[in-house]
Amino acid sequence: MLFELKNISYTYLHNTPFATPALHDLSLSFAEGQTIALVGATKSGKSTIVDLLACLIKPTSGTLLFEGDDVTNKTFAIDRLRNAVGIVFQSPEAQIFEETVGKDVSFGPRRKKLPLAESRRLVQEALEAVSLPYEDFRSRYTYALSGGQKRRVAIAGVLALQPKVIIFDEPTAGLDPRGRRELLTLIARLKQMHNLTTIYMSSGLDDVIELADIIHILDQGQLVFSGTPREILAHAEKLVTLDIALPEATQIALALRELLPALRTDVLNLAELETETLKHLSLSNFSSHSRF
Ligand SMILES: Nc1ncnc2c1ncn2[C@@H]1O[C@H](COP(=O)(O)OP(=O)(O)OP(=O)(O)O)[C@@H](O)[C@H]1O
Ligand SMILES: [Mg+2]
Repeated sequence: MLFELKNISYTYLHNTPFATPALHDLSLSFAEGQTIALVGATKSGKSTIVDLLACLIKPTSGTLLFEGDDVTNKTFAIDRLRNAVGIVFQSPEAQIFEETVGKDVSFGPRRKKLPLAESRRLVQEALEAVSLPYEDFRSRYTYALSGGQKRRVAIAGVLALQPKVIIFDEPTAGLDPRGRRELLTLIARLKQMHNLTTIYMSSGLDDVIELADIIHILDQGQLVFSGTPREILAHAEKLVTLDIALPEATQIALALRELLPALRTDVLNLAELETETLKHLSLSNFSSHSRF
């Protein structure tokens, strides 16, 4: 297993009058090569999990294993984790601190003291991978980029580190629908190109329903349930009570259930919803005819 969280609890400002519990007895494991989504409403603990996986904070209790090794063990080589795991934090803008795109994306390779030619190749590949042509973008000022471009630069900076895992913390928040679609397409493509493990934090299901292999639902720092996208959507009514935004097709399916009580809610997209609805409509037609 890439990561294993065993009975992890985390309290901010532990043992002070300002203590805020954020995670409670959380047990989860993340397998290599998968796209894993953690979905929960605001304050459910997503960013706290990101900070734990990045070893920026230590569990108050419980154990975090990376490739089988306890990260709090004195003998644990933190660089092994830092080299393997790239993070796109909740506000990617805050992650960009160099003046130009080229300098920002080359920060990782320079820190690794890679030869100049190698570093240049990594930066070029990373920028091309996020659809920002190298020649066009390398000298651009980072402050003058759009929100979507800043996110791409932040992702390129992470790709240039050649990680095997990328953690995205609500990467589409604040983007317009087109920026959001483009970013999701990019993340899906990265997965195929680089065989990455992706851990994706989201407050709604829309972003992850067609992307994730497995979804874990969080509420107030606890795991509620886990499953494939279809298994998760079968609990649509419960998800509403947890303040988790549903994908459009599921929202419509729930509304249609007033008319067609047997309609399934585990439809992954509008095309599936249409097929299901037509099936039910023809069934109900059939039963009303058969009464005569
Ligand atoms: N630095 C901090 N100091 C004290 N409490 C914190 C801190 N960061 C988070 N918390 C608290 O921990 C809990 C979990 O917060 P966290 O930011 O992990 O949730 P989240 O799911 O990422 O929320 P969001 O969707 O709003 O980003 C919340 O109750 C929050 O108020
Ligand atoms: Mg957060």
